Amino acid sequence: MSSLFSPFSLRGVTLRNRICVSPMCQYSAQDGIPTDWHLVHLGARAIGGAALVIAEATAVSPEGRITPGCTGLWSSAHAEKFGRIAHFIKAQGAVPGIQLAHAGRKASAHAPWRGQGNLPESDPNAWQPIGPSAIPFGAALTRVPSAMTKADIARVQSDFASAARRALEAGFEWLELHFAHGYLGQSFFSPIANHRDDQYGGSFEGRARFALETFAAVRAVWPERLVLSVRLGMTDFHPEGQPIEESIELVRRLKSIGLDIIDPSLGGNSPDVSGVPYGPAFMVPIADRVKREVGIAAAVSWQITEPQQAESIIRDGQTDLVLLARAMLDDPHWPFHAAKVLGRPDYRAVLPPQYHRVI
Ligand SMILES: Cc1cc2nc3c(=O)[nH]c(=O)nc-3n(C[C@H](O)[C@H](O)[C@H](O)COP(=O)(O)O)c2cc1C
Repeated sequence: MSSLFSPFSLRGVTLRNRICVSPMCQYSAQDGIPTDWHLVHLGARAIGGAALVIAEATAVSPEGRITPGCTGLWSSAHAEKFGRIAHFIKAQGAVPGIQLAHAGRKASAHAPWRGQGNLPESDPNAWQPIGPSAIPFGAALTRVPSAMTKADIARVQSDFASAARRALEAGFEWLELHFAHGYLGQSFFSPIANHRDDQYGGSFEGRARFALETFAAVRAVWPERLVLSVRLGMTDFHPEGQPIEESIELVRRLKSIGLDIIDPSLGGNSPDVSGVPYGPAFMVPIADRVKREVGIAAAVSWQITEPQQAESIIRDGQTDLVLLARAMLDDPHWPFHAAKVLGRPDYRAVLPPQYHRVI
C-alpha cells in the first residue's frame, strides 16, 4: 500500500513523497513580478522536504489579479523572475508547480492586511473587474463587474495559454488551473454568478464551456510530459450553487481532454454559505468520491495537519497527494517532522545535507 513517503508519478513527473505545498497568495509581488519574498517562502518549503511546491494564484493578465500585490505571468520579465524560484525548488529535489488564475469579479481588492473588500474606485491602483455577468460577489466585494463579451472570453483564454507557455519557459513542471473559490473559471460554472443567456451560460453545457475551452487551450501548449491539474470548486454549500454531480461530470469531461489530477475545493461564489463541514480533512470524502466515480488521481487540501492523519488518508487510497497550506506556514519542516513522528528510520534524509547531519 502507498504511504505518505512513497513516490508518486504522473506523466513524466515523479514526486519524492505525497506531501505538497498548496498554493498561497502572498500579496508581495511588484507589478505581478515575484520578489525575494517568494523565493524564500517557496524555497524554504522545498528545503523542508515537500515533494511539490505550488506557487500562489498567479494572474494571466493584470486585471486577473486579486490585489495589486498578486503575482502574474503576463510578460517574459515575470517568467524570468519565476525561473529563479522554479530552479531553486527543483535544486532541492522538489517539483516546482504554479497555479494560473484570473480573479474575475473578485479582483481589485485590498491585500487582507490592508483592508477589506474592493479597493475604492478612486484608488489609482484599482481597476474594473470582469465576470460572466454584471453581478457583484457581495459582502465587502461590492464592485459590479463588467459582463464579459465573447471577445473578452477569447482574450482571457488566450492569456491562459500564453501564461502556460511562460510557466514552461520558467521551468515549472506542474501546472494547476484555478477554477475554484469564486474566481473567474469557477464563476462561469456557477449558476450563482453566471446569469448569461448565450452559449457560455444556462445549462450545464453552457456553464462548463469556459472551463473546458480554457483547459483545452492550455493543454494544447503544455507538454505531454508535464502535469496539468485543476482546482475545482466542487460545491458552494449554497442552495443555488451547482449540484456536486455536475462538478463530477465536469471533472469527467476535463479528464477526457487531458486532465491528470483533480484538486477538489470549495466553490466560493457567495458570501452566504452554510453547512460547510469544517473539521479535520473535511474535503477528503469529496476527493475520494471524485477519484472513484471518475477514475482520476486526486490531490486534496483543507485541514490536513497531522502526520498520522495524512498517512492514513494516503494509505487508504482516499487521495493520492495531500496539499498542506497553513500547516506548512506553521512549520516549513513539516515533512521532516512527519517522517520522525511516523518512525521512519531514514527521516533525516528528508532534509538537505546542509541540515541533516546536524539536527
Ligand atoms: C495565506 C493563504 C493564501 C491562499 N492562497 C490561495 C491561492 O493562491 N490559491 C488557492 O487555490 N488557494 C489558496 N489558499 C487556500 C489553500 O491553498 C488551502 O486550500 C486552504 O488554506 C486549506 O488548506 P489548509 O487547511 O492546509 O490551510 C490560501 C490559503 C492561505 C492560508
